[in-house]
Parts: sequence; structure tokens; C-alpha cells
Amino acid sequence: MIPCQRHLFDIPPDVAYLNCAYISPLMHAVREVGEASTRRKCRPWEIVPDDFFRDAEEGRRLFADLVGASTEDIALVPAASYGISTAARNVPLAPGREVLILEEQFPSNVYPWRERARECGAEVRTLPRPEDDDWTRCILDALDERVAVAALPHAHWTDGALIDLERVGARCREVGAMLVVDGTQSVGALPFDVAAIRPDFLVVATYKWLLGPYSAGYLYVAPERHDGMPIEHNWADRARSENFTGLVDYRDAFAPGARRYDVGERGNFHLLPMANAALRQVHEWGVENIQETIRARTRRIAERMNALGIRTLPEDRRAGHYLGLRFPGGVPEGLTARLAAERVYVSGRGRDALRVTPHLWVNDEDEARFLEVLAAAM
Ligand SMILES: Cc1ncc(COP(=O)(O)O)c(C=O)c1O
Repeated sequence: MIPCQRHLFDIPPDVAYLNCAYISPLMHAVREVGEASTRRKCRPWEIVPDDFFRDAEEGRRLFADLVGASTEDIALVPAASYGISTAARNVPLAPGREVLILEEQFPSNVYPWRERARECGAEVRTLPRPEDDDWTRCILDALDERVAVAALPHAHWTDGALIDLERVGARCREVGAMLVVDGTQSVGALPFDVAAIRPDFLVVATYKWLLGPYSAGYLYVAPERHDGMPIEHNWADRARSENFTGLVDYRDAFAPGARRYDVGERGNFHLLPMANAALRQVHEWGVENIQETIRARTRRIAERMNALGIRTLPEDRRAGHYLGLRFPGGVPEGLTARLAAERVYVSGRGRDALRVTPHLWVNDEDEARFLEVLAAAM
């Protein structure tokens, strides 16, 4: 168990912020790195060619280590949608083939598939939420030879419903489907091992559970997908772009590994050092420890909610860092606003779940105040 880490964050004592799935707060140390990296742009004569690559390479390494990948497998992207669009560009879709997604899936993992399916004459099949919340069974039953790609989360963004991606990945390989994962609501708080799950693509935006800045993210690309086509073309994605004097010796060859999929201007002097500093802290805590520490808190909250007649997913069907509260008759009108008026922050997502997502900054007083204010507001 990790002790409360609130001292690392800029959170006033009367704020109970149980909303990491919305936006995580930056740590003091990450903000300081951001201030310093912003100051560098005031003195561009001090920025040297190596600066366009060093932080990017470190970011690749830090993220690769988090998911058990190699540095070569990581591309730098500005958003989950960018990574999913890259995956969609490289999936062989055709008439008669399907993209499998879940009901109420996050739109950045829906729209790229709809567009790509339209271009190729393929179909997007949306699996309805199973009554028993067993998404894994539902996905396994749906996976057959028609499916070209299963585009899934690890934990559903509305309520944290957990999908056993190891079993899903194995079934995808049996039927010849690709597996594309949006890990934005899980990686950093829920262990992810690319060697066990074997996704073709995994994308993660940094501004939630990776505790990083907005407009940055990582795309893991399986080695057998390294030779695909990026969605844009820029100087740094091409071979030997480190040599600035040779940039107009235009080259057809791409930079090695997954680097060809990097977004333009990915040598981002402002954001990359912040994202790297946050990742170093996540490594220091350890993702398994983060998961177990947050799970202990969501378990306590779930027990209290269940006693009030509010339903939560059974513990073996949800990710430990995530709690979706299902009220009999739906989330009461204006509930999140009433909580926010008391400086208690959670969010309503999907049609009928109130999402409670604490992290290591949450203390016992926050938990008690959340329970007290919620009970009074109902
Ligand atoms: C599951 C999931 N994926 C992705 C995102 C962010 O997507 P993007 O980076 O495309 O804005 C969110 C934001 O709430 C999310 O919940």
C-alpha cells in the first residue's frame, strides 16, 4: 500500500477530487519541469538538434518499460484519437468484415472506425452492454472470422468494467482479427503487459492515469506492424533526420521502429519533459501498488454505496481504480453539480453511471466527505 501522496499535488484541503478519469492534477514537480521547459523557448539559441530527439527517446523508453514493450515499438502521439486513427489506417478492412466495439465506448475509439469502415464498405458492430456486466464473455462470443479488428478498452470509461484482454487477445489471434486497445482509462493504474495481451496497437493519452500534460500520448505498435503507413508525413519520421544539414536530401525510408507514426513536432520541448517526469513517478510507485492502493479505497466506497442501495460492479468485473455508481432510477438530476458546490468532484458519464475515480492524492477525509455529501444530496 502506498501512503497518501497529496503533498506532491497542489490540492487545497477542502477539495475532494475523485475524478482522475476526467483530468489528473499535475504534481508540483511536473509543473516545475513544465515551467523550466517553457522558459527554454525564450532562449532558442540554447536549443540544439539533440533536443528534438532526447526527450522523445526517453519518453519512448519510459512508456515501453511501463507496458513491457521495447523502445522501438513506441510512437509519440498528441491524443488517443490520433493513435486510433493510425491503427484504423493500417487495418485491412473490406466488405463483409467488421470492427467490433462496445456500447457507449469513448468516441475517440468509435469515430475513426466508422469513417474507415465507410471508406472500405465494412461494418462497425457495437456489442450491447451485457446484463451481467461480463464484457469478456460477450466479446469472446462475438469474435468470429468476420471480425477484422476488435477495438476495445481495458476498462470501460463509464464504470470501469474490466475486460480480460489476455483471453480476448488469444481469441483474436485464433480468428485472425487485430486487437486495438485504448488504454487511456487504465494504463498507469492497471497493469498492462504487451507480451501477455499481444495487442496490435495500444494508445494511451497522458493526461489521466499517466498524470501528465494534456495533448500528449503514446502509441505502442506491435513489431509486425512497424511497416505500416502513418496518417501524416513529417521530416522527423524519415530516416537519418538527426542530420539537420541533410534534411533536403529527401528520403523514402522511414525512421526505424514505430517512429514513422510519430506526430509532427513530436520533439515537444514543453510537454515531453513533463510527461517524462510524471512517468518516472508512476514507475517509482509501481503500477501494481497504485492499483492495489486505489482498489482498497474504491472497495470501501463500494461497500458504503451498496448499503445505500446504489449498485456497483462486482469486484471481479471492474478495474480496482474505477467505480461506477448505478442508482435505482438513474443518476439523480444535478447530482454532480450539487457535489461540486461542496467541492466534491466526480463525474457523470454514459447514460446512468456516476464515475468515482480517486488516486493517491485522496485521503480519508476526502472519502468521508464524499460519502457524507452524497448521502445528503440524494
Ligand atoms: C477511454 C478514453 N479514451 C480517450 C480519451 C481521450 O481521447 P482523446 O485523447 O482522443 O481526446 C478519453 C477521455 O475521456 C477516454 O475516456
